[in-house]
Amino acid sequence: MADLIPVSDPADPRIADYVRLRDVNLRKSLEAEHGLFVAEGEKVIRRAIGAGHPVRSLLMARRWAAPLADVLDGLDAPVYVADDATMESITGFQVHRGALASLERLPLPPLSTVLTTARSLIICEDIVDHTNIGAIFRCAAALGVDAAVLAPRCADPLYRRAVKVSMGAVFALPYARMTDWHNDLALIRAAGFQLLALTPSPDAEPIDEVKTADRRALLLGAEGDGLSSRWLNEADHRVRIPMKETALARGVDSLNVVAAAAIACYTLTKD
Ligand SMILES: C[S@@+](CC[C@H](N)C(=O)[O-])C[C@H]1O[C@@H](n2cnc3c(N)ncnc32)[C@H](O)[C@@H]1O
Repeated sequence: MADLIPVSDPADPRIADYVRLRDVNLRKSLEAEHGLFVAEGEKVIRRAIGAGHPVRSLLMARRWAAPLADVLDGLDAPVYVADDATMESITGFQVHRGALASLERLPLPPLSTVLTTARSLIICEDIVDHTNIGAIFRCAAALGVDAAVLAPRCADPLYRRAVKVSMGAVFALPYARMTDWHNDLALIRAAGFQLLALTPSPDAEPIDEVKTADRRALLLGAEGDGLSSRWLNEADHRVRIPMKETALARGVDSLNVVAAAAIACYTLTKD
């Protein structure tokens, strides 16, 4: 088993990968600069390693050494151990799952590669909440969607919170990031995908009445504003998940984007 290296100083440079895990801006620049991301919890760490992400280091409470013994066996990376209070001072929160890993990002496939192999896609436009991105990946992976495509401004699926909520689905579902918001949707259409824009708009077609093509892509919009008019106009169909008449009277004009993704992925993949 790898040696356990005790750490007690939150400013120790050896554990700099784990500082202030809730500070989104700091994490964005730190993770981009070093090409790393952080996975939290035994299962998720196992899935990240299983997906081929090289380990930079682990930081955990000593009690996790036994459950992770097989992972630590032959690991070619330092394993730091700290008490709960030190872990909290480093990361900025109570690490309930007790074990963190810093891992290297792998290069994302280009959009063209994802388009060659997938038949069903989920395409997210400007979904900025990490919890939502993680949950959408989990839905898509669970319901048999082949791959995801993210618009340039979408949240990072490898941000710690997204990884955690997805329970590692971000490692299982292939995804690519668009480089050109203006033109990449047309490229996906040209590759033979029917574009189904999900919108709560009452004049959209009910999702289960649309005749779907062999290759299809679900377009999901941002939490507040929904899909841009450009993307709505480019789609082959604007589709809605019908809501009950009582919804508006209750002040509900749309579903949460994750709930919409779950229903739409199920509908898209059930045949
Ligand atoms: C919170 S909603 C955005 C609401 C926004 N006011 C709009 O009109 O789209 C976020 C995304 O969830 C999806 N969505 C929410 N409710 C939906 C419904 N009833 N039918 C289809 N898609 C829905 C859409 O893709 C939408 O862009």
